[in-house]
Amino acid sequence: MKKQLKSKDILFPVPAALVVCGNEKKYNILTIGWIGMVSSTPPSLVISIQKNRYSLELIRETKEFTVNIPSSEQYLETDYCGVASGRDTDKFADTGFTQLKSLKIKTPIIKECPFNLECKLTQEIPLGEHIMLLAEAVEAHIDEDKMDPENRVNIDIGKVNPLVYCATVREYWTIGKKLGKSFESYKKFVPKKAK
Ligand SMILES: Cc1cc2nc3c(=O)[nH]c(=O)nc-3n(C[C@H](O)[C@H](O)[C@H](O)COP(=O)(O)O)c2cc1C
Repeated sequence: MKKQLKSKDILFPVPAALVVCGNEKKYNILTIGWIGMVSSTPPSLVISIQKNRYSLELIRETKEFTVNIPSSEQYLETDYCGVASGRDTDKFADTGFTQLKSLKIKTPIIKECPFNLECKLTQEIPLGEHIMLLAEAVEAHIDEDKMDPENRVNIDIGKVNPLVYCATVREYWTIGKKLGKSFESYKKFVPKKAK
């Protein structure tokens, strides 16, 4: 039997991304769970930010940000960036994260995060208490020692060990083991009618 839940804004797992925004005077980091890649051509990504967030002001100013995927070992820093505000503190100083120059935009990426995207804001879509920001991913970075030449985009997910977030449930998890490849695993699938 199924039971119906009170909350309906539940989707898991998602990344817990560290979004960097701001300008040369001060760069800020906030944690984002409402995030997703929504198109390949052009590579388009959405994040949703609450209307009153300090970081939203910063992104509106520069029209750019970086998305940094932390490893599971960085879950304490990730949670901290999701409760402390850049209005009151310098989250780069507090976490010890290093700013690394981006290639296509001014906003830096976080050196210690294994995977990073440079993003240019293209559209704002108001959604009640959140503003959905549509952006184009203009550059992607991966730590050299976490590459896999056999993989179609050269990323070894096991080595990246991305932090997994279960939004609304409010829990951090690790990714677990690889089961198979997408668009290939179906070859081993036996339809019920054939059994
Ligand atoms: C795991 C996690 C996920 C979060 N996801 C979002 C999100 O998707 N959108 C949002 O506006 N705030 C989100 N937050 C809250 C912000 O990260 C938090 O309010 C942060 O302190 C804002 O920083 P700022 O004041 O420097 O902008 C999340 C927090 C955590 C811990």
